[in-house]
Amino acid sequence: MILVTGGAGFIGSNFILDWLAQSAEPVLNLDKLTYAGNPANLASVQDDPRYRFAHGDICDRGLLERLLAGQRPRALLNFAAESHVDRSLHGADDFVRTNVVGTFSLLEEARAYWQALPAPERERFRFLHVSTDEVYGSLGPDDPAFTETTAYAPNSPYAASKAASDHLVRACHHSYGLPTLTTNCSNNYGAYQFPEKLIPLTILNALEGRPLPVYGDGRNVRDWLHVADHCRALREVLERGRPGEVYNVGGRSELPNIEVVRAICALLDELRPRTGGPHAALITFVKDRPGHDRRYAIDCGKIERELGWRARESFDSGLARTVRWYLEHPEWVRAVQTGEYQQWIAANYAQRGAELGANS
Ligand code: NAD
Ligand code: TYD
Repeated sequence: MILVTGGAGFIGSNFILDWLAQSAEPVLNLDKLTYAGNPANLASVQDDPRYRFAHGDICDRGLLERLLAGQRPRALLNFAAESHVDRSLHGADDFVRTNVVGTFSLLEEARAYWQALPAPERERFRFLHVSTDEVYGSLGPDDPAFTETTAYAPNSPYAASKAASDHLVRACHHSYGLPTLTTNCSNNYGAYQFPEKLIPLTILNALEGRPLPVYGDGRNVRDWLHVADHCRALREVLERGRPGEVYNVGGRSELPNIEVVRAICALLDELRPRTGGPHAALITFVKDRPGHDRRYAIDCGKIERELGWRARESFDSGLARTVRWYLEHPEWVRAVQTGEYQQWIAANYAQRGAELGANS
């Protein structure tokens, strides 16, 4: 079986749904269920005997030790993180705690577990750390895209905390031989993304006739990848990536933010015409994010060459699929917007603390 951390979040839940659709191998999901963790993302597998959930914190070394010893995973995939740049600018304590101390705790407990495994299992074990392109900093308009050897230059507290975690992963491989894999991926979008991030925020604000905030001049560039392509890349890296290596993952799909927002407006004009005129009339330029990175772009040549992975979804097809998903899941949207799922979590988990159970 595999152990996934942060599997109730956006990418982790897509990964688990995808994994269970393709493989017979069980998954244990360890998640703290912060505001970004939503058990409803995994409602379709909650009765699947191959899916188990443990409510807990990756900083809890005792819990990690018990889960590893009791479940004996052949791989650990770390998605758990505080992931939103704007939140990190308001206060980075949780980012340092989860992203840095949490990753360190996972590495320490994984190393102790791995060292005690019998030889064939030790050989097979993998620790896959899911990271971001933001660790490489910001590019000028004509700079070449980030490669795996681009120097780290994180600019936001979020990026700095992820960079620190990547360094700890690297050091654990170098110093102790833990078979680690690190992926640095560009901006993801798709189903189940929490509406604090640009694409779902724009879709949901537009549907409600609210302003669509675009930071600064809207010309900041991101390299978009559909989450399904990211999940497939992670499976490839897990199965065939070389221990100790880093793989950049991206969609070769660079776009200025304003074009992303306009594309969403155009899709909604077709699918859900607005009585007050085109959705683009809601676009509102707002004060820029402090230290806002100008451009990210990923050179994903290494994973393409070595593992034969390639993004399948174009931005146009992926965005259309994503907009339709939000239109077709009003219940999910309502529960997220009202915070109803958090009340459910409080009622179901707060009193019980960390625990493991199928379907719980
Ligand atoms: P997310 O914020 O949607 O989900 C994070 C999950 O981690 C949530 O379920 C949350 O409850 C859980 N979590 C947070 N703190 C925890 C803790 N201390 N212990 C256990 N669980 C905890 O994030 P996401 O967008 O799904 O990102 C997943 C990973 O991918 C992150 O490591 C992020 O840095 C990385 N990443 C994200 C993107 C993107 O565009 N979203 C791009 C590249 C890399
Ligand atoms: P975001 O989705 O927060 O991802 P990240 O900061 O990790 O790249 O933001 C994507 C881009 O969109 C980024 O350049 C900031 C910008 N943005 C806006 O212009 N308006 C918004 O309301 C948000 C949330 C982001």
